[in-house]
Amino acid sequence: MTDLGLVAWPPAPIRTERLVLRQSEARDRAGFVALFASPEVGTYVGGARSREEVEDTMPEVPGRRPGVFVIDLDGQMIGMVTLDPRAAERRGHIRPDGGETELGYLILPEAWGRGYAVEACAAALDWFAGAVPGAPVVLSTQTANERSMRVAEKLGFTEVDRFEEYGAEQWFGVWPSGPASA
Ligand SMILES: CC(C)(COP(=O)(O)OP(=O)(O)OC[C@H]1O[C@@H](n2cnc3c(N)ncnc32)[C@H](O)[C@@H]1OP(=O)(O)O)[C@@H](O)C(=O)NCCC(=O)NCCS
Repeated sequence: MTDLGLVAWPPAPIRTERLVLRQSEARDRAGFVALFASPEVGTYVGGARSREEVEDTMPEVPGRRPGVFVIDLDGQMIGMVTLDPRAAERRGHIRPDGGETELGYLILPEAWGRGYAVEACAAALDWFAGAVPGAPVVLSTQTANERSMRVAEKLGFTEVDRFEEYGAEQWFGVWPSGPASA
């Protein structure tokens, strides 16, 4: 069982100064399609798929699984924050048996540059730390993904390793730093 497997899901919506983190709903479908069909969003995370392909394969209510938060700004989806188990076959682990909880974040390009990613991720991490005290969260991102690297730094992740994966250099970090994650 992963750390997230110990948590009742979904939690009550999480409110920040400007955002709400909540479970996905059918009305978010267009936002999910826009997110996964965006070339800018896909640049460092596997590339964009065609809008047609994304439309055809997107479930009626996308993202309905534990660990997926829709980022809602004034009632509109602007992105998502994920807390998922890190697959054992991936490179980058802090536990010998893997299964660490990994943070991910995707924001629609029109909402970049306003601090929403850090605000949303900080709230998700805060919630997770309360739900599973002492459990570390890991994160990997391409070193070339400068915006993402800045988000990781602002959230307080510290570097554990760098390695090649998917044909690019990856930065692998842990939160919080210190004895709980050692
Ligand atoms: C990674 C990603 C989420 C970062 O988005 P972002 O908008 O750059 O990050 P933030 O929301 O934290 O915004 C930070 C910027 O907002 C600015 N900002 C403006 N108003 C702000 C406010 N009120 N509060 C905080 N920051 C604010 C900051 O100065 C900062 O600018 P800078 O990066 O030029 O220094 C986004 O680029 C993205 O979705 N990329 C595609 C998906 C991806 O690669 N995800 C990473 C996978 S691991």
